[in-house]
Parts: sequence; structure tokens; C-alpha cells
Amino acid sequence: MTIMRISALILLFLPSGISSFAQNQLVLNADLGKEKISRHIYGHFAEHLGHCIYGGFYVGDKNSKIPTTKGVRDDVVEALKKLKVPNLRWPGGCFADTYHWKDGIGPKDKRPSMVNKWWGGVTEDNSFGTHDFLDMCERIGAEPYLAGNVGSGTVQELSDWVQYVNFGGSSPMATLRRENGRDKPWSARFWGVGNEVWGCGGNMKPEYYANLYRQYATFMVDWSNDEHLFRVASGANSSDYNWTEVMMRDIPHGMLEGVALHHYSVIDWNNKGSATTFSEEQYFATMKAALLMEELVTRHASIMDKYDPKKKIALVVDEWGGWYDVEPGTNPSFLFQQNTLRDAVLAGVTLNIFNRHCDRVRVANLAQTVNVLQAVILTNEEKILLTPTYHVMEMYNVHQDAIALPLELKSNEYSLGKEKLQAVSASASRDQNGVTHISLVNIDAKQAQDIVIDIRGAKFSVVTGRILTSGKLQDHNTFEKPDAVKPEKFKDVSLATNSLKVKLPPFSVVVLELK
Ligand code: AHR
Repeated sequence: MTIMRISALILLFLPSGISSFAQNQLVLNADLGKEKISRHIYGHFAEHLGHCIYGGFYVGDKNSKIPTTKGVRDDVVEALKKLKVPNLRWPGGCFADTYHWKDGIGPKDKRPSMVNKWWGGVTEDNSFGTHDFLDMCERIGAEPYLAGNVGSGTVQELSDWVQYVNFGGSSPMATLRRENGRDKPWSARFWGVGNEVWGCGGNMKPEYYANLYRQYATFMVDWSNDEHLFRVASGANSSDYNWTEVMMRDIPHGMLEGVALHHYSVIDWNNKGSATTFSEEQYFATMKAALLMEELVTRHASIMDKYDPKKKIALVVDEWGGWYDVEPGTNPSFLFQQNTLRDAVLAGVTLNIFNRHCDRVRVANLAQTVNVLQAVILTNEEKILLTPTYHVMEMYNVHQDAIALPLELKSNEYSLGKEKLQAVSASASRDQNGVTHISLVNIDAKQAQDIVIDIRGAKFSVVTGRILTSGKLQDHNTFEKPDAVKPEKFKDVSLATNSLKVKLPPFSVVVLELK
């Protein structure tokens, strides 16, 4: 038997977890880079949907079992502070275009109830409103991102909201705010002008919405000299490139700070599959949908480049994440799903894409923070757990406001049947203290990946790292075992002059720190 035939046989019978022979190559240009990775890429989203707000963030002040401040759970606030959540989008989603903010201010027992038509037809008693949300953002240290009602609201209603939240002087709305107990304005910068107006936000055509946007934006003005409004046009559904084209062409750029984009990693809208019991085929399909983000961001950005070559207007991916069937026995309209290693890997590759496209992607929001879709926190009465996605967002927060470093990656393929995806994903940055971080993901469900990282333009003497992985892709945290999946110290890395050798286990997320 020839040597070639022996090695082919070895390859054929390689046990799972063993590295493929080909090495992945990464070149890190550690002294280059000029674009900042906006911390707002690491934003979150909280909608009046299922148990995101009620039971998740807010349990009211009559609950004696759960410690709260003004009815907002202290444990959730603490976890989000540690995550360094830079911004939080609220109150929707589809809910935003049914929401009338004046119903959610003033004494709670006098607030009118409404029916949450989009999400299960449940009664919304408006006990969590503008003050509750904005005060909570202050506690978390997150900037609020308010989604205005365009679909069923009025220009007056939305411009009044901006004035109520942001004006420090004397005016009808500022007086009303003071009567409700808040003297100082919150000075909220981020405002969405409708949500998914091509669908639940009004089923509009892009040209019609662009005109409507111009009308709304005219009256959404700055109420102080220090803070300029960041107005976001409702954006495309995944690959609807014409939508971005019309927004950029028809809205005067002086009225537009961001254009949104929504993309969920779904296998099939009619058969989304279980969040925890899934095959490798389903995992592969989720990864394919997640990696599509690279193409979406590149193409939407190139349309924006045509109209805005100086990149003044941001691409705002204000809804992204995995979407599966709800957990058995839960309300189908509440979108409650578990969160496994698949979600951790999904988050890692998506954040790497955003980091690498930080010249245009400057705000993004994972859907959604607590108990809904790809949540970072799950709660059940007084119990709380942090999901694998939480841990990835926490590991990656070292990139917030750091300078993105250019890198070149030659990756092995992860193949299943006839299909192939790039196995390794990476991004890197240098923070304000001069510390360099590299985040690496191996999406391969079976093979470990050896990577040689060639470091150009800097010398490092110490490397440390953290890893998130587990025995099985389907592993997740439960209320009984909340720490089953958590970051560990990463040991499979060695540093030689100008190069690093790394071995990534299957389905793992690693962040390295270089000094
Ligand atoms: O995040 C759940 C829903 O998905 C949002 O309400 C809507 O904007 C999107 O379709």
C-alpha cells in the first residue's frame, strides 16, 4: 500500500473531533486598521411579546418573591450590565406600530388596557411604559432605541413622544413629563420611524413609505444642542435590495441617519424545527442562513455606497438571530425557544461579520433579550439562566469601540452532502488600551480546526483566551443546570515569534487576548 493510499484511509476513518490535515491560515495585520467597531453593533431588542417584558424584564412592584426596583427585575438588570448592553430597542417589532405611548404614562391604575393583536391577543395593561423603559435603560447603562408608530399612529403622536422624552425646557410635553415625576429629559438619540413597514408595519410600498418617512422625520427634531437624533428608516426584509435602493434614493440624506435591515436565520418558515432536538442537516441549514448575513451586508452596503460614498448613513441590522419552533407546550404566539451551542456559533459568526463590516454596520440588535427567540436570558418566575448566546455576547464585548484589524483568512470547508460552508470565521480588533483581541469560530459539527495565525506589524509576548463549547451541539442551560454551558479558559493556543497556533474544537467560539 502506498503512503498516499494509507493517508487517504486515515482521513476516511478520522474519529470525530480530530483535526483535518489541512491547516487554516489567518494573516492578522495588527498595526493597521482605522475603522471603529461601534459598540452599538452589540445592541439588544425588547418587545411587548410573550414574556419578554412581562415576566422577563418586569414583574411589577407587588411581586414579593423576585427582588425588583420599581417592578423591574434586579437580576436581569445586573446580567445586562455585565454584558455591557450599549442600546436597547423597544417597544417592538410589530407591536410598535400598534403602540400609543400616551397610554403608558401617568398613574398605572389609570392607564387604559389594549389587546396585543400581533402576539397572542393578550391584554396589555400598559403598566410598563415610557418611564419604566427609559429609567431601566439608565440602570443598565444602555442607550434607548425607541421604535415609533408609523403604521397606525400620527406624525403629531411621534413628534410629541420625541419632545416628551428629550426636551429640557418648557413646553406642553415637557410639562406633562414633569407632572409624571421626571424633571430631566432622557435625551434619547436612537429613533426608529416605523418597523417592517413592508409587512406588519403597514404593508407599504417603498416609494410610499419614503414619502411618509420624509413627513415624519421633518417633525422629529433635536431638542438640545448636545444630542442629535439618529433616525432609522424601516429597512429591507433580508435580500430586498430594491428597498434599500429606494430609501437611499428618495430620502434626503440630511433627514436620515440609518437604514434598517432584518434577517432571521430560519431553516424554513413553514417548518422551523426544534430549538434543541435537531439533526446535523438542520444545523447546517441554520449556519447557511446565518452566513448569508455576509452577502446581505455586502450588497446592501454597496447600494448605500452608490448614494453615500462617505458612509454617513449607517446600516442598522436591528433584528437578527435564530428562529425555531416554540418549546413544546408553550403559547405559539410567545416565541419562547431554548438556546444551544448552535445559537452560540450563530452569534459568533454573525458578530464577526458585523465587526468586519463596521465601516457601514454601526448599529445592530439581537432578537430578543429575554424569553423570546434567540434570548440571552431565560426566566421562570424567580429563576433565571444565561444562555450560550449570552456568553458569546459577553466574550465578544471586548470589541466594543475598538479598532477593527484587517485580516485575511483561508479556511477549510465544512461540508455536508454536496454542500460546503467555510468552517472558520474570524474578526479582530485593538482596544483603547492597545490590547488586541481575535474572535474565532469553528462551525464544523465534527472536525476540529488547526489554525496558524501569522501576525504582521506587532510583537506579542502573552496570549490568553476563553472558549465556549460543549460535548454536544444540542447542549443548553436549564433552570436545574444553569451553568451546563459556560465559558472556560482556552488552552489550545501557543505563541511563537510572529505566529500563533490554535486548535478549535468542533462547534466552538474562542476569544483570544494578545499583549
Ligand atoms: O422579533 C419578532 C418579530 O419579527 C418582530 O416583531 C418583527 O419586527 C419581526 O417580523
